[in-house]
Amino acid sequence: MDKQFAIELVEQKLPKKRFKHSLRVAETAVKLAEIYEGDKEKAELAGILHDFCKYDELSYLYQQVTKYQLDSNLLSYGSEILHGPVCAVIMEHQYGVTDEEVLQAIYNHTTGRSKMTKTEKLVFIADYIEPKREIPGVEEIRKLVYSGGGLDRTIYEISKRTVLHLVNKDVSVYQSTIDCLNYYNLNEKN
Ligand SMILES: [Fe+2]
Ligand SMILES: [Fe+2]
Repeated sequence: MDKQFAIELVEQKLPKKRFKHSLRVAETAVKLAEIYEGDKEKAELAGILHDFCKYDELSYLYQQVTKYQLDSNLLSYGSEILHGPVCAVIMEHQYGVTDEEVLQAIYNHTTGRSKMTKTEKLVFIADYIEPKREIPGVEEIRKLVYSGGGLDRTIYEISKRTVLHLVNKDVSVYQSTIDCLNYYNLNEKN
């Protein structure tokens, strides 16, 4: 899928605000790809497409989990977790996106996971730090990653904040998020 087609696809489907977020994530992912020598085209395409299913009906998202035999544990979660995995399978099966890295980056953009590819890392981070995000503490994350603090360390800091946030709200944490937190806990490895 080429960039222009992807932009039009997302623009037609998403509310303007979310469409603009998607473009900012793509731009941010490209910027990070430049710093960390990633694949700019893949990061950009995944960034444009990542939230395509963000506002789909929950019943539709559940149907796709069953249809495409995604992790059945997803059925215990809401659209916040489901829109990534479902977007990846829709892009693969309905829109002919074949690049595995692009699909993985879309699939895991919300939760992260262990052993992410570079494209996954770029999109995961970009979604958290795009310029209009106002998550408490996001400025620290921006400083860390833009000053060469490393993708893995940045992923750990994001995962830590996400898990703390979810636990404080008494919300269940999806397994991939926990896996991501543990895998990128660099302190554990020393
Ligand atoms: Fe998302
Ligand atoms: Fe997003």
